[in-house]
Amino acid sequence: MAIISPSILSADFVNLERDIHVCKDAGAPWIHVDVMDGHFVPNITIGIPVVAALRKVTDLVLDVHLMIDRPIRYVDQFCASGADYLTVHLEADTPENIHQTLKNIRAKGVKAGLSIKPGTPVEALEPYLGECDMILIMTVEPGFGGQSFMGDMMPKLVWLKEKLASVNPECLLQVDGGVDLRTAPVCKEAGANVLVSGSAFFKSQDKAAFVAEVQK
Ligand code: DX5
Ligand code: ZN
Repeated sequence: MAIISPSILSADFVNLERDIHVCKDAGAPWIHVDVMDGHFVPNITIGIPVVAALRKVTDLVLDVHLMIDRPIRYVDQFCASGADYLTVHLEADTPENIHQTLKNIRAKGVKAGLSIKPGTPVEALEPYLGECDMILIMTVEPGFGGQSFMGDMMPKLVWLKEKLASVNPECLLQVDGGVDLRTAPVCKEAGANVLVSGSAFFKSQDKAAFVAEVQK
């Protein structure tokens, strides 16, 4: 049993409200919101006002993925905007600030997530495992939707699943990038229980069937 979090990066931004309802009607319980700053990643997307606007039109879990430098500067505002999960990148600040950022998110009653890019070794997450509600393993280089799934990230999930079993068994394991009907079973087999899907979800003809299959 897994959770699907459709990424609205692949939605029609002119019709965002309609597409949020498309996700809900298909049975998706979460919505993944990709925030990019043009510094941490070479792309710029959306920010705090859009998260706040989405909050007004949906009761789905808002899963906000911050691909921004020094997120500590903005997490309070993202929490206030209605995020349910707020995920930051380990590479985006100093270890001291990352610890503080996770603490700040949780202090607002929001679930804290921590992510690593494909090039970052999974062991780098170890000092933070007790401070997170979700770990996000990127299976593409963050920045763009529609890239190919990196299957060689799966050992990271296996390693995390084992570590978390003793340290923080409630912590969710999320994957993001290139998840489709072929790669979703591979992720679940490796231990992922939250699967982000952007282009494959929005391109699928039968979205309810897509959701059911990914969540199986
Ligand atoms: C990439 C984003 C992803 C993206 C995934 O930086 O974090 O959430 O939307 O898109 P797909 O599923 O198309 O790889
Ligand atoms: Zn994402």
